[in-house]
Amino acid sequence: MSATFVFANWKMYLDFDESCMLASRLREHVHTTDKTIAVFPTDIALKEIDHIFEGSPLRLGAQNASWVPRGAYTGAVSPHMLKDIGVEYILLGHSERRHIFGENDTDIRKKIDACLDAGVTPVVCIGETKEEKETGKREYRLKKQIMKVFENLSLADEQTLIIAYEPVWAIGTGDACLPADADDVMSFITAEIRTYTNKEIPLLYGGSVTPENVLPYVSLETVQGVLVGSASTTFESFTGLLTAITDKP
Ligand code: PGA
Repeated sequence: MSATFVFANWKMYLDFDESCMLASRLREHVHTTDKTIAVFPTDIALKEIDHIFEGSPLRLGAQNASWVPRGAYTGAVSPHMLKDIGVEYILLGHSERRHIFGENDTDIRKKIDACLDAGVTPVVCIGETKEEKETGKREYRLKKQIMKVFENLSLADEQTLIIAYEPVWAIGTGDACLPADADDVMSFITAEIRTYTNKEIPLLYGGSVTPENVLPYVSLETVQGVLVGSASTTFESFTGLLTAITDKP
């Protein structure tokens, strides 16, 4: 099994109390794990969940960050500030940030640099829209997004970056990218990344992952884990998903 990362993007599904409650139940449930399991709750619950996770193998991520460290930037939170309260990973370029909040590849690249500068691992989401897929522009879109991430990027030995392939049409739709298709795309992404760096860059698949369909993804050689949205937001579903990929050959 090649899966290592199980990342739970709680989006804006859960409020403070609900996030802390789910985090506490997960902490009771997960004592040891050979996976890197991280939850990405609403910012307002980060600090409390950092306390809840103390001494547990569970890790903490944020859903977004700004590209400036500090100053007159109303409404912004920086990677440095997030790191100070226990955040190890930051999602960047999620489809909802790109399509609802208008973030572009240049914004995302600035955020990647800011995360690396702060010592937080960026988890950069890339993926094509349904229209791009249907008009044969999938590879072009991914190529452009990957170029923006890696062009003139030098990763120091201690710095890492994770790429999550999340086809826009598969997010929150129940229409997951079939594993064989995801495998082909992941091979393409791997080859593209190789043109920029020799570093091992973990690749995650995301988009309508559930306890029922997760196993084939994490069994792919090209995939090092999954980024899970709605199926990670209840205890039963998230632990069901963890069980589905535990101790499988
Ligand atoms: P989903 O979301 O699992 O609900 O499709 C995935 C994501 O947006 O990261």
